[in-house]
Amino acid sequence: MPTTEARVPVRLGPRSYDVTIAPGALGRLGASVNASRTPACSPVALVFDDRLPGSLVSTCERSLAAAGFRPLAHPLKATESNKTLARAGELLGWLAIHRLERPHPIIALGGGIVGDLAGFAAATYRRGVPVIQCPTTLLAMVDASVGGKTAVNLSDPEGRGELLKNMVGAFHQPRAVVIDTDALDSLPDRHFRSGLAECIKHGMLGADFGDPQLLDWTADTLDRIATRKPDSLVALIGRNLSIKASVVQRDEREELDLGGRALLNLGHTFAHAIETIPTLSPDGGPGLAPLQHGEAVALGLIAAATTSEAAGRCPTGLAARIGALIAAAELPVRLQGLPSTQRLLERMAHDKKVLSGKLRLILPVDWGRAAVFDDVPPAAIAAGWDAIRG
Ligand SMILES: NC(=O)c1ccc[n+]([C@@H]2O[C@H](COP(=O)([O-])OP(=O)(O)OC[C@H]3O[C@@H](n4cnc5c(N)ncnc54)[C@H](O)[C@@H]3O)[C@@H](O)[C@H]2O)c1
Repeated sequence: MPTTEARVPVRLGPRSYDVTIAPGALGRLGASVNASRTPACSPVALVFDDRLPGSLVSTCERSLAAAGFRPLAHPLKATESNKTLARAGELLGWLAIHRLERPHPIIALGGGIVGDLAGFAAATYRRGVPVIQCPTTLLAMVDASVGGKTAVNLSDPEGRGELLKNMVGAFHQPRAVVIDTDALDSLPDRHFRSGLAECIKHGMLGADFGDPQLLDWTADTLDRIATRKPDSLVALIGRNLSIKASVVQRDEREELDLGGRALLNLGHTFAHAIETIPTLSPDGGPGLAPLQHGEAVALGLIAAATTSEAAGRCPTGLAARIGALIAAAELPVRLQGLPSTQRLLERMAHDKKVLSGKLRLILPVDWGRAAVFDDVPPAAIAAGWDAIRG
């Protein structure tokens, strides 16, 4: 009998919490909030993505009201240009107008943008109120909702026009995470596939975090996952979050040099160099520009694997296997219109993972295993970029 419910504990001492994953879980949101030590009859701030189906939002409101809470709903427009201090300020003002007190939780119902923005407000309002993450995209379900990172973007103070992503934020662990796989029913396919890129990334780390089979399982189960079969989604999200929880438990605040949260940036140093170029798109045409984060990560994973092979850090053939899995997930494997390799190397050098002038890269070292390197020859990185040049 396939499992249609999973629970993943995140063990962080006094900041521990549980993730509940099940179809229909938001219909029981009130009970989850009750279990998260919220005082009875409290107001709760329900901050939601304004593109969600109204039925999802009203399911949450009904469940909260039935459990005796007073839900106060606040819509947010989920765009990167809206994930700003100004929007966070408006949300904080709204919380103050409604007189929310320190024990009253904020519920973040949406993708990573709503989760980051509402989480940031929760981290700062009255120096910290509880947040309950209810992710509605696959990316937020397998990644952003767990681990306590919250952030907003900063407009470039030097006026070059690019957003400085996640430049201002705080670590603020949620009190609970409630994942309703039915929420994915309305998620557009492109966003769903973007989330799969992060799943492949987790699989590429699985051997050191208790799940060496995850990458093979993901490949074998891809058809059921892509058609969003509930039991496969519950298993996918549960296994991915177990990896994420293990990493976060080892290094809650990304303080370890090696083997900690930095590993989650596998593929991301390449991805960050291309995802903010507004003209790039998965099919080369203007209609789908810019790249989604997950699309950039998928390309970054191939570039990282090719770099690793070129630098002799992993077995030959690994990049082709990773590329085949990414292609099977219908994510892009090549990109037209990439800037020159020299320009891309410069963009990577601006990434936050440059420490004392050295570019740190997370590279796969085997199927399901990755490591941190700061001595990768530029020629190997250039080979990585060439592998995805369309
Ligand atoms: N805090 C973390 O640890 C962490 C980790 C990874 C990413 N992030 C952040 O997450 C953000 C990206 O998150 P995302 O990929 O979830 O994107 P998102 O929040 O922008 O959501 C993607 C799109 O889907 C829509 N949407 C969301 N749920 C839907 C649903 N169920 N049905 C229909 N439409 C829906 C949104 O309105 C949006 O248009 C970035 O800002 C990134 O920095 C944070």
